Amino acid sequence: MNIFPLKINNLNYSVNENTILKDIHLTCEKNTLTIIAGNNGSGKSTLLKILHGLIKVPINTVRWGDYSTSNIKINQSMVFQTPILLNRTTYDNLAYVTKKKNITEKFYVEKIIEKLNIKIISDINAKYLSGGERQKVAIAMSIIGSPKVIFMDEPTSQLDPAYKNEIENIIVDLSNNGVKIFLTSHDISQIRRIGKEIIFLDKGKLIYHDCIEKFFKDKHCDLVNNYINYG
Ligand SMILES: Nc1ncnc2c1ncn2[C@@H]1O[C@H](COP(=O)(O)OP(=O)(O)OP(=O)(O)O)[C@@H](O)[C@H]1O
Ligand SMILES: [Mg+2]
Repeated sequence: MNIFPLKINNLNYSVNENTILKDIHLTCEKNTLTIIAGNNGSGKSTLLKILHGLIKVPINTVRWGDYSTSNIKINQSMVFQTPILLNRTTYDNLAYVTKKKNITEKFYVEKIIEKLNIKIISDINAKYLSGGERQKVAIAMSIIGSPKVIFMDEPTSQLDPAYKNEIENIIVDLSNNGVKIFLTSHDISQIRRIGKEIIFLDKGKLIYHDCIEKFFKDKHCDLVNNYINYG
């Protein structure tokens, strides 16, 4: 199943006459790690939710190769900016996803727990987890079943530096193994470390789309310069 190029064609999205995304056209040719950046309220999470299929748009607006967003639903997952977890233990949250994905391998959940280094919280109910721990569980849930595409909405915003490094290594590893990652981040050092391509939004408009190296060399408007200088 070849889901590239991803083509977004004339994407407009409004709620109650508030324009949230405007005239977005873009093509992602390569299976690299794509950063989505921009100030608060610029439309990053909304764009991810549209690509994920949670927010519906006309079918031809988003094409993955010959496929529509609903065709690839089973092959992708999302880490939400505010993770939603079941009122059960970490282990049960992970087991729930494996069951939904028909994974019958007996030790699969243990493997994920080990990979994400979250044994210490595996028996704790999600309602008691700290913000960063909830992010860890959400990231663990997103990689279950080897999805082809993972949307990650500020997945490391609450993580301590050492764990952020562990997660970045996992994300880069997934990307190097052919998983397409879309990741939003306000963390400029992180964007430099792991990004390969960047989409920059301003008030719902696409104002930059190119490779990361070029992004950090190019001349920009004040808005992007401030983002780079203070991020
Ligand atoms: N259902 C909705 N109804 C009204 N306004 C909405 C709705 N969904 C999003 N918005 C508005 O659209 C804009 C973009 O929201 P979005 O969550 O995509 O921003 P963001 O770039 O992810 O911001 P942040 O960096 O703060 O996470 C915001 O101003 C938000 O208030
Ligand atoms: Mg957001």
